[in-house]
Amino acid sequence: MNLPFDPAAIPADRLPELLRTMPKAELHMHIEGSLEPELIFALAQRNGVALPYASVEELRKAYAFTNLQSFLDIYYAGASVLLKAQDFYDMAWAYLERAAADHVLRTEMFFDPQTHTERGVAMETVIDGLHRACVDAKATLGVDAQLILCFLRHLSEESAFATLEQALPFRDKFIGVGLDSSEVGHPPEKFARVFARCRELGLHLVAHAGEEGPPAYVWSALDVLKVERIDHGVQSAKDPALMKRLAADRIPLTVCPLSNLKLCVFPELSAHNLGALLDAGLVATVNSDDPAYFGGYLNTNFTETFGATGLGARQAWQLARNSFEGSFADAQAKRGWLDKVDAHFASFA
Ligand code: ADE
Ligand code: ZN
Repeated sequence: MNLPFDPAAIPADRLPELLRTMPKAELHMHIEGSLEPELIFALAQRNGVALPYASVEELRKAYAFTNLQSFLDIYYAGASVLLKAQDFYDMAWAYLERAAADHVLRTEMFFDPQTHTERGVAMETVIDGLHRACVDAKATLGVDAQLILCFLRHLSEESAFATLEQALPFRDKFIGVGLDSSEVGHPPEKFARVFARCRELGLHLVAHAGEEGPPAYVWSALDVLKVERIDHGVQSAKDPALMKRLAADRIPLTVCPLSNLKLCVFPELSAHNLGALLDAGLVATVNSDDPAYFGGYLNTNFTETFGATGLGARQAWQLARNSFEGSFADAQAKRGWLDKVDAHFASFA
């Protein structure tokens, strides 16, 4: 593809500013993972929920994860303070304000209804609060925010079907479904039938695969679940045939570098394979996953990853384009955003 700018004309010391100000989309973030410790404590107090931590500082100290499960245990405990629609609104609004500050023009936010319905919170309460924040984000912040409902893969297929049934009255308030939570031991095939039903309903399909799990899970997410994007997918690099397939079919990978660092998927950020995925022609994107837990929102993911890996303006442009191209927005909206990306880079060169 022809670049609309000369990467060599952008001085290295302007790269962080370029990364921060470039228009971008976020395609992989869990809204419950944006709950900052301060908001967890404020909501706990507002709702009379007891927390197993004495203070914000003590909670933050617990954020020393060794793998995905060690994080999920704390993440689900944090979400226990969410009871009312206003709680879901406040959580989403705090994220959307940060997203707007990071020049995010489009965000597709995951939510985990089973984490809440299993505690007796109604599906309507969850979706009402989140959706109201999305509507206000468009009007007030100029951010196009959409929702993707995730099934928890450590729970049963039956529970996923029941969740889908509960959500269908609000079908117009979410654009797709995903699959998250504990990956290893819960392969995509477990949810073949519920994803087939979601496909019939015209929902977009995504799944976490190849975060900690093997390339085989990425293959089955594609071939059994028929997903349109892979969340994470970094383990795909172990399978050359899979890499070819992802590139040929232009399947976006929603990569989350700081998450991978904090959950020990890579020993250090400089060892991350984002650059290799781009070099192989994959539609890789950068995302924050659970920003309150992993040390930063979207712009921090960009600046820290570029700082550690030596990626440059050319890759920044590719990642910004990939984020819009990989979104579920309509073709006209995508064209408008891609033009903005090109104009932004041209203004720096
Ligand atoms: N839920 C929230 N964050 C997650 C992640 N990184 N992987 C799987 N499930 C999640
Ligand atoms: Zn995730």
